[in-house]
Amino acid sequence: MCGIVGYVGKEQAAPILLDGLSKLEYRGYDSAGIAVRDNASAIKIVKAKGRLKGLIEKTDAGHAVFGTCGIGHTRWATHGEPSETNAHPHTSDDGNVVGVHNGIIENYQELKAKLVKNGYSFYSSTDTEVAVKLVDYYYKKYEHTPVDAINHAMVRIRGSYALAMMFEEYPNEIYVARKDSPMIIGIADGNCYIASDVPAILKYTRNVYYIGNMELGRLADGKATFYNLDGDEIQKDLVEIKWDAEAAEKGGYEHFMMKEIHEQPKAILDTMNSKIKDGRIDLSDMGLSEEDIKNISQVFIVACGSAYHTGVVTQYVMEDLARIPVRVELASEFRYRRPILNKNDLVIVVSQSGETADTLAGLRLAKEQGVKTLGIVNVVGSSIAREADNVFYTLAGPEIAVATTKAYSAQLIAGYMLSIEFARVRGEITEEQYTGYITELQTIPDKIGRILEDKERIQWFAAKQANAQDIFFVGRGIDYAICLEGSLKLKEISYIHSEAYAAGELKHGTISLIEDGILVIGVLTQPELYEKTISNMVECKSRGASLMALTTVGNYSIEDTAEFTVYVPKTDEHFAASLAVVPLQLLGYYVSVARGLDVDKPRNLAKSVTVE
Ligand code: F6R
Repeated sequence: MCGIVGYVGKEQAAPILLDGLSKLEYRGYDSAGIAVRDNASAIKIVKAKGRLKGLIEKTDAGHAVFGTCGIGHTRWATHGEPSETNAHPHTSDDGNVVGVHNGIIENYQELKAKLVKNGYSFYSSTDTEVAVKLVDYYYKKYEHTPVDAINHAMVRIRGSYALAMMFEEYPNEIYVARKDSPMIIGIADGNCYIASDVPAILKYTRNVYYIGNMELGRLADGKATFYNLDGDEIQKDLVEIKWDAEAAEKGGYEHFMMKEIHEQPKAILDTMNSKIKDGRIDLSDMGLSEEDIKNISQVFIVACGSAYHTGVVTQYVMEDLARIPVRVELASEFRYRRPILNKNDLVIVVSQSGETADTLAGLRLAKEQGVKTLGIVNVVGSSIAREADNVFYTLAGPEIAVATTKAYSAQLIAGYMLSIEFARVRGEITEEQYTGYITELQTIPDKIGRILEDKERIQWFAAKQANAQDIFFVGRGIDYAICLEGSLKLKEISYIHSEAYAAGELKHGTISLIEDGILVIGVLTQPELYEKTISNMVECKSRGASLMALTTVGNYSIEDTAEFTVYVPKTDEHFAASLAVVPLQLLGYYVSVARGLDVDKPRNLAKSVTVE
C-alpha cells in the first residue's frame, strides 16, 4: 500500500520519480505527489488527487519541476480521505523537513498531541504529517542532525513505516528509514534510487541494498550509508536483482493481468525446475532435513486472500498424500487467536509480496513460540523471506496486476511439491507414485497453454455476464478451494457480488438466495464428488438459476444440465486447481473488461497490504 520513490544524482529527478511512480501505481492510486529541489533552492512540492496521470499533466511530465534530488509517492489512503491536502509529500510548518511515508503510524494521535503542545499545527488528517513534524521537532532539538532526529522519531513511532525525507539544510541528500514496510535502495553510476518495489528502479539499476527493520540510510554523492538506531554506521552488501526488466512491462498485452495469466506456464516451470533435480524433488536448499519432515506433527498454513486459497488447496493435497494434519489459517485471525502451537509443528506462511502485514505478524508469532517456519514467497529480500527460518521461493517474477494470477499458480506448485516430498519422506506413497506425481506435475505448464488457446469462448460468455448482480461458485473438496479463488477473482475486478460455497452447504441457508437468472458456476474436477455437485447444481437450476460447469475433458454428460461448459485437460485430481483456476481468471478478466473497468487497478485495493 502506497508506493515510494526517490532519486538523487546527476539527472533531473522529476521525470525519474514519475516514471518510478508509474511502475508502483498498483500499490495505491488515489493521489500522488513529488518534492524536488535544485541544489540549495527551496524544495518544491507538487501534488494531485486521483491517478498519477493528473500529476504528470500538472508537472508537464516532470519537465516543469527542476532539480536533481527528489522524493515521490503514490497513495492508498489509510488516515484521511483521498485529497490533494492529504497527498504526500508532507512538510513541516517552515518547510524544513519534507517526507513521504508508506505504512501506518499507530500512535499518531498521541504524537500529534505532543507536537501540538510544542506549538505545531496540522493541515492534513494523515499520520505522515505527524511523522514529518516529529522528525522536525527532534531535528531542532538535536543540533540539526538528520540521523539523530530520525532515530529519535523512530524510537517514538509505533507501527510500520518506510520513510524518505529531505532536509532544507542538507541539499542533494535524502534520508530513509524503515520498519515493516518495504523499501529498497538502488545504486548506479553516481545515482541513488529509492523504491518500495523492484519494478520502479529496474530500468536504472539491478544493484540494490535491502534496508533492514529499524535501520536508516543517507543517500548522497552516488553512495548510500546505513545506520542503526544508535546512529552507528552499519555495512551492507549490494545484491543483484535477477528479474528481467521486460517482465515488469506489459509486453504487448492490454493489461498486466492478461500478460500475467499467460506467464503462468513459465512461472510454474521456473518454480518447479528450481526444486526438481534428476527427476526428484530436492528441498535441501531450504534447510528442512528428512528428519525434520518426519517429525512434523501438524502443519499450519497462514496467509491472506488468494495466498490463503492456495493454502486451502494444499491442505487437501497434503493431508491426502502425506497424511499430516493441516490447518489453514487466515493470517488476520491467526495472529490474534493465541493459537496452540507445538514444537514439532511447521508453520508455512504464503505470500507473493512477502510484506503482507498480517502474514508477517503470523510468522513472527510462530517464531516467538519457537516453532519452525517456512515462507513460500515470491519477492526476494522481502520481510517474510528474510525472517522465515526457511524459504521456498516461487519464481513467478514481478506481478503487477493487483489481482494475483501467476503468483497464485506458483504458490500452488510449491504446495504440491512440499506435499509430494513430505509424503515420500514419511513413507505414505510408493516410489512409483512419487515419480508418477512428479511426471504429472511437469505436464501442467503445457496443459495451461492449451486452456489459454481457447480463451475466446470464455470471452464470449463473460460479455453476457457484464450486467449480472450475483454469481455463485459451488464445488466440493479441491473444487471448493478453486471456487474460493474463482469467486474472489471475479468480484475484486468486476465488482459483481459473488460467493463461493462448499456445494453441500447450499441447503443450509444459501440456497434461499437463488432466484431466476442468477448464474451458478459448478466446479467439477474431482471424480468422486462429481455426481454430488451435479445434484446441488440441479437444485439451483430448479430454483431458476442458470448453470455454467467447469469440468474435465470427457465429462460431456454435464451438457445435459449446464447451459455453458468449459473443459480443462485431464490431470491427477490433486493438481486440478492449477488447470481449473485459469478459465476462472479469464472469466473475471473478461467480465471486468466488458464492464469497462480498470482491470489492473481495481478500486479500493492495493497490491501489497502492508497495513492490517
Ligand atoms: C487477490 C490478491 C490478494 C492477495 C493477498 C495476499 O487477487 O492478490 O488476495 O493474495 O493480499 O497478498 P500476498 O500474497 O502478497 O501476501
